[in-house]
Amino acid sequence: NNYAIVMAGGIGSRFWPVSTTDFPKQFHDMLGTGDTLLQRTFKRLSKSVPEENIFILTNERYNDLVLEQLPGITQRQVVTEPAMRNTAPCILYAAMKIQKENPQAVMVVAPSDHWIEDEAAFTADLKKCFAACSNEDMLMTLGIKPTFANTGYGYIKYEQEATDIKRVAKFTEKPDYETAKTFVAAGNYLWNAGIFIWSVKSILKAFALYQDEMTSLFEKGAPVYNTAKEQEFITLNYQSAENVSIDYAILEKADNVYVLPASFDWNDLGTWGSLYDKLDKNQDDNAVVNAQVLSQDARGNMIRTSDKKVVVVDGLEDYIIIDKREVLMIYPKAKEQDIKQVLAAVKKNFGEQ
Ligand code: GDD
Ligand code: MG
Repeated sequence: NNYAIVMAGGIGSRFWPVSTTDFPKQFHDMLGTGDTLLQRTFKRLSKSVPEENIFILTNERYNDLVLEQLPGITQRQVVTEPAMRNTAPCILYAAMKIQKENPQAVMVVAPSDHWIEDEAAFTADLKKCFAACSNEDMLMTLGIKPTFANTGYGYIKYEQEATDIKRVAKFTEKPDYETAKTFVAAGNYLWNAGIFIWSVKSILKAFALYQDEMTSLFEKGAPVYNTAKEQEFITLNYQSAENVSIDYAILEKADNVYVLPASFDWNDLGTWGSLYDKLDKNQDDNAVVNAQVLSQDARGNMIRTSDKKVVVVDGLEDYIIIDKREVLMIYPKAKEQDIKQVLAAVKKNFGEQ
């Protein structure tokens, strides 16, 4: 009864110039391992879920990319959205589809773009969650011990209990910096890893309770789910769903949220700097992907080229150096959050790159 859905519809704009609207980061080999992030996610999940029960949710423009990168799956497993509506609509939609196929299903919801090294620990954690959710009405998330006041994450206040799985007292999505600081200092908070586990029955119950409009919108289509008429229904109706993430739509509201503190090392690979942190460094502390680097007096740089290009750096510290055919970016790591704005300015001046 185990199912998985992989959310692969985001754009990853802070990873420009590698990640673009035409070719977002989940479809790139960001780590230089030979596999794309999507392929790694699929492989990791296939240890816990039969491959034919893994569904990929993405924008319709990435349909071919998904099928190309995961040659073992069929079109049945790719759900394509005509527009980006954030994570709540795609999760609700997939849950309804899966329920029609198997009303007893338990599902894991996974982002397509995270770094998780220890597959065995990940699989063991999922096993615990699947077991808990198949018996009880629980909405489960995996929690990560916070290390700093990151305002891009959800924060989970949990009850001090002796069990592995703990009740969640309060879920706060993306707090402001001051609030995040008090959460981290308090000690009984975890970051939300954005990986959720629940039975389709439980999540559909929660949607009916807290998102009745979205629920009735998609229920209208239920008779055609998993039939040839399904795509027509999606194309006509998907846009009407509210643009909202699962964190705001359900997790902040529900009172049956539980957390398992994750036993694996995790990174959401949101920026070039977070990628730098996770990669092996060379003797000068530079992280290098796809390039051949000659460096002197250059430390802490994230260097990536599109092929085996030779890169010579001297006297540069803590920079992001990214080269692809049309673009070369040399940008301070300390300002990496601004790459979103840089991208907007580039588009304005030079068009889509
Ligand atoms: N199919 C589809 N459609 N996928 C989407 C869409 C969409 O419209 N929007 C986003 N996604 C995918 C992204 O590609 C990513 O894999 C995942 O859904 C999560 O979306 P993000 O946009 O990356 O969310 P976030 O990072 O701001 O916040 C979430 O993740 C954090 C951990 O990384 C939240 O769950 C936070 O609470 C959490 O801490
Ligand atoms: Mg994210």
